[in-house]
Amino acid sequence: MPVIALLAAAGLTLTPALAQSGDGARIAMQICSGCHGVGGRSESPMFPKLNAQTPEYIEAQLKGFREHARGENTARDYMWGMAALLDAAAVKSLADYFSHQPATRGATGDAALTTKGQEIFERGLPDKGVPACATCHGAEAQGAGTFPRLAGQHKEYLLHQIEVFKNGTRGNAPVMSAVAHTLNDEQAKAVAVYLQSK
Ligand code: HEC
Ligand code: HEC
Repeated sequence: MPVIALLAAAGLTLTPALAQSGDGARIAMQICSGCHGVGGRSESPMFPKLNAQTPEYIEAQLKGFREHARGENTARDYMWGMAALLDAAAVKSLADYFSHQPATRGATGDAALTTKGQEIFERGLPDKGVPACATCHGAEAQGAGTFPRLAGQHKEYLLHQIEVFKNGTRGNAPVMSAVAHTLNDEQAKAVAVYLQSK
């Protein structure tokens, strides 16, 4: 069933009046929380956490969905239609709302993988010319401007994004596609396990 129909069945509809009310907190509670959780604290690995994400990144992604710059199936199926309804004031208000929600850590994973992931995050892979993830995503993976926060994010979501950067369906970020190409499966998994627990 298409997402919009699913939402409608649950009594949730993003009407133009609501989408363009400029009331981010209300839109977040009535619509976004159905997937991203209350305050963006998603508990399902299918849906990324939005709490404590940087406002600049949230705005850029909503614009990217609207312009179909993120072409992965999950973006197309869930976010293209949603983003198309939000006007600039609503986007700004939503970005402001989610960026002020407190951060949450995810579950910790295998200790050896976590250590390996931390090393990749902090030092990169010098022999393959991969810069440290921390140089862009921040020492604590907290994000900065349009470099997203990664700390606390679901590992399944992170791995899926690394995959779609690699296969080019999320093709709007050449830097991340280049980084993703250099990570093998084991390295991608290690860094995702580390980040989820941050
Ligand atoms: C029906 C479920 C659903 C609803 C409702 C929903 N989203 Fe999403 N959202 C998703 C999925 C799934 C993704 C991941 C898409 C992908 O893999 O590219 C996503 C991704 C995002 C992202 C990108 C996050 C990142 O880390 O890159 C933002 C920002 C976002 N949504 C904002 C919103 C806002 C704001 C609302 C409410 C107006 C909303 N979403 C409502 C399912 C939903
Ligand atoms: C040169 C800067 C840079 C480096 C180094 C970098 N990234 Fe990124 N990363 C970005 C940018 C910019 C984005 C957002 C792309 C966009 O706007 O869609 C991003 C997005 C991501 C995302 C998607 C997050 C989300 O919420 O959808 C993941 C996952 C990610 N990076 C992981 C990594 C990992 C792991 C490393 C290190 C191996 C790394 N990045 C190194 C710049 C960088």
